[in-house]
Amino acid sequence: MSTPEKIVLADGQQLAAAAAARLITVVVDAQAARGQAHVVLPGGSNGGALLKAVAASPARDAVDWSRVDLWWGDERFLPAGDPERNETQAREYLLDALPLEPERVHVMAPSDGSFGDDVDAAAAAYAAELAEAAPGDEVVPAFDVLMLGVGPDGHVASLFPGHPGYAVTSGTAIAVRESPKPPPVRISLTLGAISAARQVWLLAGGEGKAEAVAGALGEVDLPAGAVRGTERTLWLLDQAAASKL
Ligand code: 6PG
Repeated sequence: MSTPEKIVLADGQQLAAAAAARLITVVVDAQAARGQAHVVLPGGSNGGALLKAVAASPARDAVDWSRVDLWWGDERFLPAGDPERNETQAREYLLDALPLEPERVHVMAPSDGSFGDDVDAAAAAYAAELAEAAPGDEVVPAFDVLMLGVGPDGHVASLFPGHPGYAVTSGTAIAVRESPKPPPVRISLTLGAISAARQVWLLAGGEGKAEAVAGALGEVDLPAGAVRGTERTLWLLDQAAASKL
């Protein structure tokens, strides 16, 4: 288990640009070492700013995008194409501009897909897809980097403080109902799946995250403080979000 490290950038724009540069480097390094890369995309506005920064980066195409597998840490269980879905936003901000292999873009099912409104079946199918892509008897691929936004309450993905999903100690992808952050129904990786990643990055920008950042990096039991990468746990903050450390 890696000890959390933090890097503080001046503002949200520098946070997104620095995280984007770091992501490109990590993916290029992974492909040099292992021929491919597994990346878990974040949801939310900080995650979206990072994806836009990758799209704008001159170094973007140093990555062989045809050898990148993309996953999601969580997804809002909404109809395909809904603007509130993390997938919809990721495609708009970045993915539609990349020469990705469609079968390597692993989408969490929409609520009008082959599972209909059965979010449990959709979550189980994602767990099966993770296992199919995993080496040997593992249940998830060795994600090279898994990126998470951080909520003002210290949630990550769709794991919320005091909410059942945060207490789940088995499995890799779960259904989340009555999410404190709308929309209410979601699919999320579990803490265990998240912590199987080589690197876990937590992206937090803005004054509104300062309390959660200080709590998670302090003694408060929060999902954001519970996640660890096997090799690195990195908090990427701007000065406002780091202001209570
Ligand atoms: C979601 C996200 C969620 C998000 C945080 C931070 O689907 O809502 O995955 O975990 O990353 O709530 O969101 P902001 O960066 O927009 O504050």
